Order: sequence, then C-alpha cells, then structure tokens
Amino acid sequence: PADVGIVAIELIVPSLYVDQAALEAHDGVSSGKYTVGLGQSKMGFCSDREDINSLCMTVVSKLMERHKVDFSNIGRLEVGTETIVDKSKSVKSVLMQLFTDSGNYDVEGVDTTNACYGGTSALFNAISWVESSAWDGRYALVVAGDIAVYAKGNARPTGGAGAISMLIGPNAPLVFDRGVRATYMAHAYDFYKPDLSSEYPTVDGKLSIQCYLNALDNCYQLYCKKASKAFQNNSKKLRVELQHFDAVLFHSPYCKLVQKSLARLALNDYVNSSDEEISSKFPGMEQFKDVGLEDTYFDRDVEKAFMTFSTNDFEAKTKPSLFIANQVGNMYTPSLYGGLVSLLISKTPAELSGKRVGLFSYGSGLASSMFSLRITEDGAALQKLISSLSDVKKMLEARKAMSPAEFSEMMEVRERNHHKAPYTPQSSPELLFPGTWYLDYIDDKHRRFYKCT
Ligand code: ACO
Repeated sequence: PADVGIVAIELIVPSLYVDQAALEAHDGVSSGKYTVGLGQSKMGFCSDREDINSLCMTVVSKLMERHKVDFSNIGRLEVGTETIVDKSKSVKSVLMQLFTDSGNYDVEGVDTTNACYGGTSALFNAISWVESSAWDGRYALVVAGDIAVYAKGNARPTGGAGAISMLIGPNAPLVFDRGVRATYMAHAYDFYKPDLSSEYPTVDGKLSIQCYLNALDNCYQLYCKKASKAFQNNSKKLRVELQHFDAVLFHSPYCKLVQKSLARLALNDYVNSSDEEISSKFPGMEQFKDVGLEDTYFDRDVEKAFMTFSTNDFEAKTKPSLFIANQVGNMYTPSLYGGLVSLLISKTPAELSGKRVGLFSYGSGLASSMFSLRITEDGAALQKLISSLSDVKKMLEARKAMSPAEFSEMMEVRERNHHKAPYTPQSSPELLFPGTWYLDYIDDKHRRFYKCT
C-alpha cells in the first residue's frame, strides 16, 4: 500500500492542572525555576478516578466517534505505555471491551513498554503490519498513554498525563518516509521503575539528560546519513542537515530541554562541517572547531553559543510543537505525538502543505529513534485532519485549576491507594470532562470496572 501514515489523530489530557508558578511558590524554589528554567506553564494530573486503562478507553472512544470509524474496521490495536497496573494483562486487552458490540475479536497487537518510547514502538509495529503480507486491508490503531508522576522533590514539576490515539493506514495525510529511520538503543539506568508497589520512578535526572542528548546525537547523525542517500536524486549529491526539515519535533520531558536539543542539531551540523564550511555557515563560531560531541552535554559555552545561533530555527521549526508540552507537561509516551498535534493546530493548511517533519523519540533505559514524515499537499485532506483537532485548545482552556495543596493531596491519595483492593476511588467523577471513562471501583480480586461520564 502507498502513503502509509497517520489517517486520524486524537488527544486527551486530564481535566485538572496545577499552575507551575504557583507550584514554585508552594515548593519554596526560586521564582522562574519551573516556568523559565524548565519552560513549563501548567501540569496536567489525574485524580484517583483515572488510570491508564480509563485514559486509553477515552482516547480510543473519542477517535472512533469523531471519525465515524467502525470498530470492525480495526485489524490491529497496539498500546505503548509505561504506566503499569497489571504485570501480565495488557491495556490492549482492556480496550477490547469497546469492541464487544462490533463483534470484532480479530484484532492483533498487545502492549509495548520501554519508558517514553513504547508509543513509537507501537507505531512502528502498526506501520509494519500495514506494509506486510499479514495486512487485511483494515486500519491499525496506535494508542499511547501515561500518567507521569514523580515523588516529592525536584523531578515532580516535570510530571504530566495524557493519551493519544492514531489511526494508521494507506493514503494518509501524514506519510512516513521509508528507509530513513535511525535508531539508537543502549543499556542505562537513567530512569526506571523497580518498585512495583509505587507509581514513582527511580530517576537520575542528570544522567537522563545526558542519555537523552547522546541518543539524539546518534539518531540524528544516522538519520542524516540514511536520508542523504535515500532522498538523493541521481545527478546531485545531497547532504541532509537541519535545513532539510521544515519542522523538528522532540520527546519533551520539559520544554527547555527541547530548545537545547534543537541547538544540539545545529552543533551536530557544525561538527560535520569542514573548516571552510564553518567559516561560511557558522560565522564567528570558529572557536568551537575542536569540540567533540561527547564532551559538550553540559558545556555552558557551547550550549549558549548554539542556542543563540539556532534561535530562529527553534522559533520556526520547533516552538510551535511545544504548545501542549508547555500546557500539560511530560505525558511520557504521547509526548512526541502531542508535539505533532501542537504543530498541526498552530498553522494553516497552506503553511503545512508538503512540509517535511522530523521526529525524535526517546525512552529512558534506553530506546530512541529519529524518523520523518511528509505532510500531504491535498488541501481537503489536510483541512479535514486539522478541523478534527479544533477542540484541543478549547479542551485545554476548559480545564480546572487546582491549588498546589490540592494537587499534593490528590497525589497522596493516589500514593496511599496504589494497588489497593478492593477500592472505590474518592474523587468525584464530576471533575472529569464529558465523555470520559473513569474507574468506578476495584473489586477484591483487583479487577477494575469502568463507567463513562
Ligand atoms: N529562573 C530561571 N531559571 C532557573 C531558576 C530561576 N529562578 N532556577 C533554576 N533555573 C534553571 C537552572 O539554571 C537549570 O537550567 P539549565 O538546565 O539550563 O542548567 C534549570 O532551571 C533546572 O534547574 P536545576 O537546578 O538543574 O533543576 P533540578 O536539578 O532541580 O531538576 C531535572 C531538573 C533534573 C530535569 C529534574 O526535574 C528531573 O530529574 N526530572 C525528571 C527526569 C527528566 O525529565 N529527564 C529528561 C529525559 S528522560 C524523561 O523523559 C523522563
């Protein structure tokens, strides 16, 4: 099948948030640490009425309803998440409840887990299925969802929550480039969840940033090499670098790291340049000629110089994609795809038409990939995709602000009752948006039962 890619996309975020400036004051840190230092405005969070199953049920129901897709027309459903409520039973199997009326049980795929990367792995699996001999002509549905919560302390303001669903099929308005995917995988203990009785990760913040930037360097270098070959037209040698992309989207642990990451791509281009190229393309930056990528993860001078150098590229190619990350926080697996939604709602169809978008996915532990997609030039198809996302801004505005004290109290309720059975959630379902699936109760056998608002 031709033009395999994203046919439709749906995003949900929690109905509750806490303001990051209010959180700074409450936590007693210096004013600006979370809002400027991390680049975050608001953090979405869930009460004990929502868990990973309910988030994914909501985002699947909404996509199917909005796009009038029949459940019988899904041949593969794959979930990427690192929010685990059962060690053996997948979220995918829970989602099969939604298929009951359609009578469709012939649905391949289960869950994929590796920190924030599971959604991308699920997406790659879905693309492979559509392109394979196993494909039966139906759509694949990719779901990525997480509740990102940290113990009290300096990582807590980098939490968030949300879910995304993407319908994958041929003749899509967002078409994945073939033969250019670049992956970097390695063993690291930068962020992991060894304590199965807690929702919180064990995290080495500084190491996780170093691992993220190292993975980015490796993926970008390899992507550029592969794309230079793949996109070359016979007569002319091509060098793929930052200017090849109209937009670059990143997994966003917090927005400031993404701005540093875009600068890092400029640094990679610099390192790949000859002395003459440096003089012409990077005027005034000759003093960095001898820097090695591995020595610069926390080099203030290099970071500052390349952030300044790449300011215009950041504003044009990446900042529009940070809207949801800034407003919701790190959603983990859906983060990168929230970036895609942000990009789509920030521009007109004419501005998006035919554009090439680079995507960098990172999951601690670690797994990472850089890949790309091309936006269709079919104005009607593009308009349809963008119109389907017109509720996103309204949804963000309709959220309810909770005070840092209320946020902290709700975190404690989750913490105290994590894995408790039997359990009836304390928080009111009335705090949720209409059309939200929520946890009604957990019985004494840890079985979870859901209702919809
Ligand atoms: N005004 C403006 N900026 C400020 C202020 C202020 N008042 N105070 C501090 N800052 C800046 C700091 O200079 C720093 O900037 P820099 O990153 O350019 O150096 C930034 O704010 C953060 O301050 P730090 O003191 O470095 O923050 P801290 O060490 O307390 O925590 C961290 C930050 C490590 C990111 C922590 O939140 C964390 O562990 N988060 C979870 C891990 C994570 O997100 N890792 C990323 C990749 S892996 C993943 O996706 C989970």
